[in-house]
Amino acid sequence: MRLAFDDDGPGPVVVLLHGFPLDRSMWTHQKSSIGAIYRVICPDLRGHGNSPAPDGIYSVDAMADDVLELLDALQLTDPVVMGGLSMGGYLALSIAVRHPERLKGLMLMNTRASADSPEAAQARLQRASEVEQSGEVETVISAMIPKLFSRMTFERHPEVVSRMHARMSRTPARAVAGTLRGLAVRPDRTTELANIHVPTLIIAGEEDSLIPLEESRSMAKMLPSSKLVVIANAAHLAPLENHVACDSAILEFLGSID
Ligand code: MLT
Repeated sequence: MRLAFDDDGPGPVVVLLHGFPLDRSMWTHQKSSIGAIYRVICPDLRGHGNSPAPDGIYSVDAMADDVLELLDALQLTDPVVMGGLSMGGYLALSIAVRHPERLKGLMLMNTRASADSPEAAQARLQRASEVEQSGEVETVISAMIPKLFSRMTFERHPEVVSRMHARMSRTPARAVAGTLRGLAVRPDRTTELANIHVPTLIIAGEEDSLIPLEESRSMAKMLPSSKLVVIANAAHLAPLENHVACDSAILEFLGSID
């Protein structure tokens, strides 16, 4: 799978993987702040943005393998720092567990290691069928929007909400259905956290109702070499909602690695 991507900046490589159903445009702030020092590579994941959207189930491991294929095509076989938000974090964890030799650092933002509960998986599969049958994604996306942003973002930056809403609405129905099906069957990686030894930064949004703070705290306890940073005035999209705080945590973390 040939992914669309941005690749800018000098220095050591940092790969950033977006959430569902977003695209690489969510990393605009990080591309300029982190990209001043690091080579920042942001792909559009399978089915999202300008990348191909095949039929079928988009498993987390297959999507993660697309990212490794991109790095191989760029001849980047030395270990890199890999960061991901929510779904992007599931992919980064998949790589950390299955291909630890590819990573020298991990950044898990607004994400979790656990699988869906049976009820959550069932609800996703139901939504996937509805999207596929109707051919429209708006119902799923409108239901997600209230959970993605903090009070401050809704009140002070409604333009960020509308921009992301518009981006998400461009995701084709078959990609939304394929991703929902893949996320519903993703493996639980909780017990594998103890075996991830690369330095890891965990970023949590103070108001993230999708990933409760307690879950990020417990992930931090299980990861042998991790640091948790809680971002104020942010919900599920912390790097977009409070990029100043996020970028400073990311730059400090990257500085500690290189
Ligand atoms: C995301 O932001 O990527 C999604 O919330 C992931 C999910 O639905 O599990």
